[in-house]
Amino acid sequence: MSDDSRPSLTGTLPETPDSARAGTPIAAVIPAAGRGVRLGPGAPKALRALNGTPMLIHAVRAMAASRAVSLVIVVAPPDGAAEVKSLLDAHALPERTDFLVVPGGETRQESVKLGLDALPPEYEIVLVHDAARPLVPVETVDAVIEAVREGAPAVVPALPLADTVKEVEPAAEADHPEPVVATPDRARLRAVQTPQGFDRGTLIRAHETVTDNVTDDASMVEQLGLRVVVVPGHAEAFKVTRPLDLVLAEAVLARRRLTDGF
Ligand code: C5P
Repeated sequence: MSDDSRPSLTGTLPETPDSARAGTPIAAVIPAAGRGVRLGPGAPKALRALNGTPMLIHAVRAMAASRAVSLVIVVAPPDGAAEVKSLLDAHALPERTDFLVVPGGETRQESVKLGLDALPPEYEIVLVHDAARPLVPVETVDAVIEAVREGAPAVVPALPLADTVKEVEPAAEADHPEPVVATPDRARLRAVQTPQGFDRGTLIRAHETVTDNVTDDASMVEQLGLRVVVVPGHAEAFKVTRPLDLVLAEAVLARRRLTDGF
């Protein structure tokens, strides 16, 4: 990462000082209501198994692995809340963490909003984490939390890109070549992951104000004109989207079992 792309946690926004937030409890909202059509036919994506355990359970454990996280709110498929509740009951989860399940909506954005509606008032910092990123390491979760506690209103974990990226004019008809309109400077681009971390009031305001359909919560905060900062993401925080990602995720779990003994 070049010097000018490092997160700057000093800025002009009114910020709550670190000392006031050092021990504040953290809640994580996990939108898990998507169907995951790109993964092929079958159960909703979050309920598909990775090495025998539903992806959602891996994602819940990844959030609860952080000692700072004391509540996880799972946003279930609209007709699947009871199933998700029994899945959580059936799997071992840390006792220090509380769990809530709420039904989700039509879009990811709606699902996150429904999760935020269930957030108890004592949580001033909230993470939003895709169930589709089941293997994010706890170091990444804690890095996001630390940056919010240091005063950033919104924090995203992200990685530099390996590929060069082209902007295209989408072809009017399928199978027609798409004209390239621009090649952004790769050194200034980042691929953004989750969990994204927020000052609670900022995220709620963003969800009340921004109506464009977005797939990234931080972009809503950007639209409010507030500062969003990046911390280093992790290769294992990749999103399980296509069938090949299931193979990769199971390989990561197999390697962890060998190296960590679980
Ligand atoms: O579809 P995509 O992979 O971008 O979804 C990202 C996350 O948002 C997934 O964890 C998915 O379950 C969730 N989602 C949701 N409600 C929707 C659509 C997606 O909770 N209506």
